Amino acid sequence: MNASNQGLPVIDEAVCIACGECVRVCPDRILRIDEAGRILIHGMTCMQCGHCYAVCPVQAVAAPFLDHDFSLTSSFYQADARGLPVQPAALMELLVMRRSCRCFTAEPVAESLLDDLVRAGVAAPSGTNCQPWRFLVLATRMDVAILGTATAGFYRKLNRKAAQPWLRVVLRMIGSGALQHYYDSYFETVRQGLKAWDDHGEDRLFHGATAAIVVAADTRAGCPGEDALLASQNIVLMAESMGLGSCLIGFVVEAAKRDRSITDLLGLEKHYKIYSVIALGHTDVAYKRPAGRKPADKRIIRLAGSDTSSG
Ligand SMILES: Cc1cc2nc3c(=O)[nH]c(=O)nc-3n(C[C@H](O)[C@H](O)[C@H](O)COP(=O)(O)O)c2cc1C
Repeated sequence: MNASNQGLPVIDEAVCIACGECVRVCPDRILRIDEAGRILIHGMTCMQCGHCYAVCPVQAVAAPFLDHDFSLTSSFYQADARGLPVQPAALMELLVMRRSCRCFTAEPVAESLLDDLVRAGVAAPSGTNCQPWRFLVLATRMDVAILGTATAGFYRKLNRKAAQPWLRVVLRMIGSGALQHYYDSYFETVRQGLKAWDDHGEDRLFHGATAAIVVAADTRAGCPGEDALLASQNIVLMAESMGLGSCLIGFVVEAAKRDRSITDLLGLEKHYKIYSVIALGHTDVAYKRPAGRKPADKRIIRLAGSDTSSG
């Protein structure tokens, strides 16, 4: 690996069987196969998710920038007869094998599974136990596509605005760099996503998910955002344990913050806000190993006044 490709995956051509799984799962679309069956990396916009490493059936992909050690170090790791509801090692396995799924089959998700996901959601903690959430269940592909189309409408307008250099400059001059930031960070991805949808119906927003759960919460609660996101994480983990794929779709959350027609479409009152949108479906990809994570920024600290002699 040389300095120029630091932070990008490394493909071992001698091992690679050119199955294309890494290309299929790459969210940044920086991988492609050439005519000779070689995996090429183009662009530098890798978000370092490690999906290419995790999916490769022959371990031809390395992600040296990620920490792959998720082994438990505590004695809990050894224990299996403690009467614990879930063994720590089994829970860790669930946590590290969960992936954001961007390849779904066309099979619908049974409503009973969606019911169970909502039950998992409400098991989350909430500030003063106020449970301010509302779960909007989109149980069919058609409903997901309608929400996708409404969201695409918002981004079409935003991209038209952001494409105007003079508007970005004027807004920057009056202190709002938001449109410039959007242009620098998302404009091109969104442009390509809209084009893929218009040209050949490829759904880069919901990734073809056949169901979704929108988690909203009553903004009059003490901490509706935290409550909704904790419920969302429960849903995502429960989905994983059921063998379903899930993916948080922040693009819809952001659109709904700015475009009232999206919250109206979902029938939400003004005092409800959307905190997460979870794409769901039967997964069409099999990850072989955990993806790894950037090394944790962990610091064991002793605060001023803490008694170091008592350990
Ligand atoms: C708040 C939030 C918003 C996200 N929005 C999107 C999205 O709009 N589209 C998408 O494909 N993935 C989205 N993701 C998924 C992240 O890209 C993903 O979690 C990250 O790359 C790590 O991969 P992993 O979930 O497989 O561990 C989102 C994740 C979070 C936490």
